[in-house]
Amino acid sequence: MSSFLEVAVDTAREAGSILLAEFDRPVDISYKGEVDIVTQADRRSEQAIVTRLRTHFPKHAIVAEEGGGAESASPFRWHVDPLDGTTNFAHKYPCFAVSIGLEQSGELIAGVVYNPVSGELFTAAKGEGAYLNQKKIHVSPIENLATSLLVTGFPSKKRTQNPNIYYYWDFTLRSHGVRRDGSAALDLAAVACGRFEGFWEFGLHSWDTAAGVLLVQEAGGTISQFDGRPYGLGDSELLATNGRVHAEMKEVAAGIAERAALRPPLS
Ligand code: IPD
Ligand code: CA
Ligand code: CA
Repeated sequence: MSSFLEVAVDTAREAGSILLAEFDRPVDISYKGEVDIVTQADRRSEQAIVTRLRTHFPKHAIVAEEGGGAESASPFRWHVDPLDGTTNFAHKYPCFAVSIGLEQSGELIAGVVYNPVSGELFTAAKGEGAYLNQKKIHVSPIENLATSLLVTGFPSKKRTQNPNIYYYWDFTLRSHGVRRDGSAALDLAAVACGRFEGFWEFGLHSWDTAAGVLLVQEAGGTISQFDGRPYGLGDSELLATNGRVHAEMKEVAAGIAERAALRPPLS
């Protein structure tokens, strides 16, 4: 394991134990937006992650969701979601994760998604494959959308401006179903290990996707925007699949966008 990945794993485990301890306490919610929640757990987890990353890599840049990161001209940039699935967490629904991804000069090179409730630790390093608790993982072999299980998510910010409900409707009718688990990082990890054939969402941030995108790529999957353009961290559309259903999902998405004459997705 690279030293970057090793540090990311230790950091995610530490943050995960903070989240688990907080999960047993009464939730302390504040609002960043109308339904956009933040808890003490988000802040404590982020503080622990940023402190550890800065100790090991003082020159690296850190982009962290709750604002505790650090700017720098370094080619290395960490993308940190200290608690992905805050709404689940706040409602005591045990589906959330820590997500830590590392980019070097625009290329993802390491990623960890850790679910402290299940103990599942997903890791990937560029060119070295993707792993779940140290066992190599691969995307699913299913070839058709009709026999696929999919997953998506909806933003907690500007929900009315998000077109996803139309996509949810259509993809539900054309597949075995579409799940909505509330953690984009875990959704991507689940595509990487073959539980879902495809995931899409609009308006995600770099901290939601950096680690999960590398997991999917290293597990043999395909990542793009809906029209096939390459996905870059922070782009407003993300389609992540096992590769085999990618073209079909793109085609269906093009039809949905055309028929519904949708507004452009959030930027
Ligand atoms: C959210 C989750 C959710 C996704 C939202 C994200 P948060 O992240 O990943 O699944 O649908 O778009 O904002 O706010 O819980 O870190
Ligand atoms: Ca998130
Ligand atoms: Ca978060």
